[in-house]
Amino acid sequence: MLSRRDLLRGATTLLMTPASIRQVRAEPPSGMFELRASQTGHRVGDPSNAPSRLWLYNAQSPGPEIRVKKGQRVRVRFVNDLDEPSSIHWHGIRIANAMDGVPGLTQEPVQPGEHFDYDFVAPDAGTYWYHAHNHSWAQVGRGLYGPLIVEESDYLSGIGELTLVLDDWRLDSAGSLLTDFDGYMREKQFGRIGDTVTVNSLPIGSTARLPAGRFHRIRLINAANARIFRLRLRNIDARIVALDGQNLDRPQISEILVLAPAQRVDLMVRLRSGEAGLIEDADGAFTTDSRNENRATLIGFFGEDRNVPGISGRPRLQANPIAEPALQGAQHIPLVMEGGSLSGIGLAMYNGSLLDTMELAAARQVWKFNGIANLPTEPLFRTERGSSVVIDMHNRTGFEHAMHVHGHHFKVVSSDGTRGPWRDTTYMPAQSSQSIAFCADNPGKWLFHCHMLEHAAGGMRTWFEIV
Ligand code: C2O
Ligand code: CU
Repeated sequence: MLSRRDLLRGATTLLMTPASIRQVRAEPPSGMFELRASQTGHRVGDPSNAPSRLWLYNAQSPGPEIRVKKGQRVRVRFVNDLDEPSSIHWHGIRIANAMDGVPGLTQEPVQPGEHFDYDFVAPDAGTYWYHAHNHSWAQVGRGLYGPLIVEESDYLSGIGELTLVLDDWRLDSAGSLLTDFDGYMREKQFGRIGDTVTVNSLPIGSTARLPAGRFHRIRLINAANARIFRLRLRNIDARIVALDGQNLDRPQISEILVLAPAQRVDLMVRLRSGEAGLIEDADGAFTTDSRNENRATLIGFFGEDRNVPGISGRPRLQANPIAEPALQGAQHIPLVMEGGSLSGIGLAMYNGSLLDTMELAAARQVWKFNGIANLPTEPLFRTERGSSVVIDMHNRTGFEHAMHVHGHHFKVVSSDGTRGPWRDTTYMPAQSSQSIAFCADNPGKWLFHCHMLEHAAGGMRTWFEIV
């Protein structure tokens, strides 16, 4: 068992406080907030690691935390100081289509030296994030992402806040990022799993000292290319209050948290004075210390006596108004997911021609949706605004996936009609089926893809149109 002393010892290594990630408020009318992407020398994880050549927004890893209030306008000038085109996607925001940041579908990619002004309204309070959406497996993999927090309009000021962005990196023996992002076909299948897990780009195992007796909203964001985080809460009085940005009607208690790539989990946590708890690696996937029988600690928490006023009752968060899909008479769209090394891709359409496995491999395509590798010329479906859509997904691969719909939140529905919570990204086990339902109320051309970014590049992308 883990003693308080173990936790306290951990606490001396590094104190992570909410201040360890800089918060920037993009608040009109002060004008436009600037996000500048550039190559930046930055040490990932342990401070003794050799600097990595990351690509970052405003030279920070993660990028600056943008905070706005629900319903506010967000204005961001994206300046591209990279050597290759890029764009920014505002993940999970039910956004105007032209601002969704998908090159080839909603905008031209922003060329080196150029800029693009994003201007949109953030309709829902919650935990979101932004990330590069061109050459994503390499651009996000090198660090082009940051948190976007939309605060409740009646923000409960007695609540503390802590945003934790999780990632993993593949480092060389000196601790510098390996930049072989275009190296291997293997990665298009398995995804790039790093050997070093970080929280806000800092080493795991640090401790956040939180004022005792006060509720804290801890916002977890999985920014990793392909890693699914399976975490366990130990000795923490925590409720899950939101998933993928959407507040839950009823907070949940769960010891295990699963965050597939791009997913978010918000916890409401309160510690008593002197109390210690932690979030650990649940399945030993990133245990780094072979002498240590304990699972790796992602982050520890320690309740500290500090005179910070807080609210006494459990805070109640309002659900965002999202239209419920009507299941009766909804349009059903089948999506058959195939490919990967266990079953193979076989024949597939790619860029309008039918290719065999060898030709697809040459084009670095290993996955297909309904027989098509990567973006089809015609959408998966076209529907009228306001209609209800059910996508019946059949994962016929031997791999797990994390399916993400742009511009909408959906619910996983089971055959008896039971609906899950709102999500924008859903975890699918290997060889499984899942149906997701949503009201197609946001006009435009929307991407629908696996958020394991190598899978997306390797063929797992399609799109739909709402007219
Ligand atoms: Cu975060 Cu197209 O996705
Ligand atoms: Cu996938």
